Parts: sequence; C-alpha cells; structure tokens
Amino acid sequence: MIDLHCHILPGIDDGAPDLPAALDMARAFVADGVSVVACTPHIVPGLYHNTGPGIRRAVAGLQSELDREGIPLRLVPGADNHVTPDCVAKLGTGELLALADSRYVLIEPPHHVAPQRLETVFFDLLTAGYVPILTHPERLRWIEAQYTAIQRLARAGVWMQITAGSLAGAFGSGAQYWAERMLDEGWVQVLATDAHDARRRHPDLGRGRALAARRVGEQEARHLVLTRPSAVLDNLAPAEVPRPVHDDRFSEVTDGEARSGPTGGDPIWPRRASPAGAGGVRGIAGRLRRLLAG
Ligand SMILES: [Fe+2]
Repeated sequence: MIDLHCHILPGIDDGAPDLPAALDMARAFVADGVSVVACTPHIVPGLYHNTGPGIRRAVAGLQSELDREGIPLRLVPGADNHVTPDCVAKLGTGELLALADSRYVLIEPPHHVAPQRLETVFFDLLTAGYVPILTHPERLRWIEAQYTAIQRLARAGVWMQITAGSLAGAFGSGAQYWAERMLDEGWVQVLATDAHDARRRHPDLGRGRALAARRVGEQEARHLVLTRPSAVLDNLAPAEVPRPVHDDRFSEVTDGEARSGPTGGDPIWPRRASPAGAGGVRGIAGRLRRLLAG
C-alpha cells in the first residue's frame, strides 16, 4: 500500500515530535504493509511555516535515517497545503508542494468554517493543470452545509481523500457517517492515514482498507490504497486512473437532494443527515446493496 498523507517528518509540525517518534511511525507503516509514504507536513500561514525546500531537506534526512536503520520504507515529498487564495502562485515558486512533484496537490481547508471563495481556489488549481485532492472532507465541521459545493468540486475533477481512521469511528460518528456516505456515493479516490504518531493517530491503512472493502468491494479498496496512489506518484492523468465505484442509485443525486430507495421507500441518505442522527441511517445503502445482490 501507499500512504499519500501523513505527518512523519520529525519536529516540523504537530506530527512526529522527534526522530525516535518518526522511526516508530515508519516501523508501524512497514508492519501495516505500507511501502511508500508521502511526507505531508502542514503548511499553514502563521502557524506552520514550512516551505518546499525545507520539506525536501527533511525528507532526505529522514530517508537516510530509515536506510541506516534498515527500515524498508520509501519517502516522497509533499505537503498538507492549507487553502489560500494564492495556491497556484505558491506552487509555481515551490513554496507549496505537490505530491512527489506530480500534478496532484493535497489541499486542506479550515476545519471549523468554510473558506470564502472555496470553489474559486479549487477551480484556479484545476485551470492551472493541477489535480487538487481535498483532504478529509468527512471531518470538516461544515460538510453538511456545503455538501453541494463539495459534490460540485468532485464533479469538476477535484479528488477526495478520506481518512482511514474515520471509517473506524476514530474521529466520531459524524466523520464516520460522511466517510461511509462519500464512499458509497462514489466520490472518494484515495484513502490515507493522516497519521501523526505511532499511538493515538497511528498508521492504520490496512484497517481502513478492510473497512472500505466491506462497503465498496476488495477491488475498489485496492484502488483506494494502491492503484490511485501509485498513479499519483507516476503523475498519470486522471483519465488513466480507475474511477471510483459509483452506485447507480446515486447517479441522479444532485445538490444534496434526497433520493428514494429503489422501491420508492425511505431515502437512502437523508437530505439533512446530522452526525447525531447518523447511526440510524449508517449502512442502509450497504444493506440495500446486499439485499439487491441477494
Ligand atoms: Fe494532515
């Protein structure tokens, strides 16, 4: 497997605090079956002042330590780029970083408030030839209010990355609900760990892959953790990459409208799904699929 989002570089953000912690994370990745990791520290103006050149130096330094320790993990550079109006310009100067110098760029919006001009920033990136990857939309507090906008971004070509731990409930029932819903609806291209340490927010891609497979099947789960991440590292065009499994019953979903089930009964995913009510509807789509298959 390949993890495209983690905070393993020591001492430069809120991830691994030092080299021993980074080595612990690296060993945990290898034990989980991960062979390549994109090092994606935060770049947040006013908070984490990382830049492209510094991240590249840190990646080279940690790779040397891994090689010295005999830990078989390959590192590639990247960044958890906080959304800013000038993302395109800063990618051009190398201040922000794409994943492994490809066209694919992790973009992290603020968690608590939807940014103004959200869609403009992403469309600017698409127009400039990048493929933005929106990080963990399922964990954004404003996803319910802005789900229509997120769907528009996905339709326009923005990739969606959900967090492996979200599928296990590690970020609460709301994040789990939205992760499962977005998977079921076929919006998600990549599953990643966003690991910050070897304990509380540890590498757990294998568990996430298994949980995803229960909803979308083994082949699509493999695409989430290997096929598409590998294509990112090879800088393939999105058209050359398998599209997410898209349940036909969601194909007419527009602008967050509720859909009736195949028999015209209860909605598969309700229009106003709140995290508090998520448990009641979670898994309905999966159960319907199994019923239809049976
Ligand atoms: Fe992150």
